[in-house]
Amino acid sequence: MPAVVVVGAQWGDEGKGKVTDYLAQTADVIVRCQGGNNAGHTVVVEGREYRLHLIPSGIIYPGKTCVLANGMVIDLRGLVSEIGQLRQYGHDVGGLKVSDRAHLVMPYHHRLDVLEEERRGSFQLGTTRRGIGPAYADKAARDGFRVGDLLEPEYFRQRLRWVVREKNLLLERIYGAEGFDPDHLYEEYMRYAEEIADFICDTSTLINAALDAGQRVLFEGAQGAMLDLDHGTYPYVTSSHPVAGGACVGAGVGPTRIDRVLGVVKAYTSRVGGGPFPTEIKGSLGDRLRDRGGEYGTTTGRPRRCGWLDAVALRHAVLVSGITDLAITKLDTLAGFDPIRVCVAYRHGERLQQSFPSRLSVLERCQPVYEELPGWTEEPVASTFDSLPPAVRRFLERVEELTGIPVRMVSFGRERDKTLCLSDLFATPAAKSPLGATPEMVYTNRRTERE
Ligand code: GDP
Ligand code: IMO
Ligand code: MG
Repeated sequence: MPAVVVVGAQWGDEGKGKVTDYLAQTADVIVRCQGGNNAGHTVVVEGREYRLHLIPSGIIYPGKTCVLANGMVIDLRGLVSEIGQLRQYGHDVGGLKVSDRAHLVMPYHHRLDVLEEERRGSFQLGTTRRGIGPAYADKAARDGFRVGDLLEPEYFRQRLRWVVREKNLLLERIYGAEGFDPDHLYEEYMRYAEEIADFICDTSTLINAALDAGQRVLFEGAQGAMLDLDHGTYPYVTSSHPVAGGACVGAGVGPTRIDRVLGVVKAYTSRVGGGPFPTEIKGSLGDRLRDRGGEYGTTTGRPRRCGWLDAVALRHAVLVSGITDLAITKLDTLAGFDPIRVCVAYRHGERLQQSFPSRLSVLERCQPVYEELPGWTEEPVASTFDSLPPAVRRFLERVEELTGIPVRMVSFGRERDKTLCLSDLFATPAAKSPLGATPEMVYTNRRTERE
């Protein structure tokens, strides 16, 4: 049975939560593979809004296994509060599984995230200040704590004393900030350990066993390709790998297990935080788009920057994730905008740039080349592709042409029933076709010198 990876194909907030919730109806296991509570995934069911930050968006259905896999960095305070909220709403969280290999976001990571942002001055990234970067940095430096460490109290206590001593040197001597008492942290974390002990397990084996048993496994990406640590607009990125490959490492499954990669794309673009955004619309039109789309951060409440759909960035996302299918969201938000613009290439000096540049200095000099498409006046409501308004169909077909990827899901509202699913993604593996990269698109330094 195919495994489906849902990834963000822009700068996050594409509607992955809604799409995952929709697909989770027919899935058995839903897995979050990377990131932490920097993510904010909104699911609206029967008028109730759920804002999930750590727990997979399948949790609203009873009886699903919902996994927080090894690639995540988990803030236990946040997890315990999310579990509490779901219970308050009457949801059973019995299907929750937390990887013993997942890393912990510690309170000193939060404090360092804030202080490091201040230190960056005009180079601020605009992080969510959830401690994500410092937690992944400690993981790579091998100074992190894993969920499984909570099951070894004495080891946890001893190592915590040593790590906190070092963090306090940094906090107190470099930043002039307050440090932490390791024994208080130990007690706090032992309380969390008690609350989540029943959920902790080896989730990689669990997911592989589910796949072997023919169960439907849905991997829920967080953030988006353009925020990927390697493939995004570095350094204005997050510290994990939101691309589809990140789902393999982050869940402990091999790439041969993945059959379909569903790229979630907002019908326009939004970005929260700093960094380049070639199709950003400044001024009243951008404000109108933000207001119509309710574009305010699910995690931080910050106003999101808004702009037109960018097919150059989208093609980049398709390539680096091997996207096989597209889900286009928020078509209702674009109602009333006429014409609708889509960026089909960048103009860099005399040259048309088809691939997404890696260097910010090049990106800054790129001007979007827009194509105009007719808009639609009404919010679309449809039960088949053919019953969508002609202008919406034209827009979707143009996205397919520009990316070479078929649109399999269409979303035109926040609720589950405002979704059109054009094929059962779990039923068959995707037909894989070339993704449209050609040798001429390869950007080399020598080419820059010639210009
Ligand atoms: P995620 O991080 O990718 O899960 O996206 P967020 O939940 O942060 O942001 C997407 C926002 O758009 C949420 O408020 C969703 O409820 C909302 N949303 C998702 N799909 C649609 C849609 O088709 N139309 C409208 N109007 N809102 C949508
Ligand atoms: P979902 O899963 C949008 C952005 C932050 C900042 C950068 C680095 O809801 O799509 P971090 O706290 O990760 O170190 O911040 O990444 N960012 C997101 N933007 N959606 C998200 O998640 C994001 N998670 C991080 O705004 O620019
Ligand atoms: Mg979000």
